[in-house]
Amino acid sequence: MDTFNFSVNITYVDKDGKKTKVRGKVGDNAMYLAHRHGIEMEGACEASLACTTCHVYVQSEYFDKLPPSEEKEDDLLDMAPFLKENSRLGCQITLTKDLEGMELRLPKATRNFYVDGHKPTPH
Ligand code: FES
Repeated sequence: MDTFNFSVNITYVDKDGKKTKVRGKVGDNAMYLAHRHGIEMEGACEASLACTTCHVYVQSEYFDKLPPSEEKEDDLLDMAPFLKENSRLGCQITLTKDLEGMELRLPKATRNFYVDGHKPTPH
């Protein structure tokens, strides 16, 4: 078996723009892969589609190569801070050969400011 064909190189870009190149495998989950390499992607619900802390931006050329998001993922993303056109939940991304070279960028924050302890200014 030619293992080379089964590895997928992914670059994670953290919120400060720091890039970390990681070699994953076809079938790897983009969130768990990040965790294994110490990337600061959260995953509060352990990939059970119940949070938005694994929110990532998918490099646009690769966005269409991902299977479309389920309704539940879309609903969650609607609540994610800093939502963009190319937002997905990291734990719903499974690596395929087509994703070779993809860049996944982490948002500035993955939680509401309220949760982070930021007090909204009273009116
Ligand atoms: S870890 Fe909660 S939805 Fe991905």
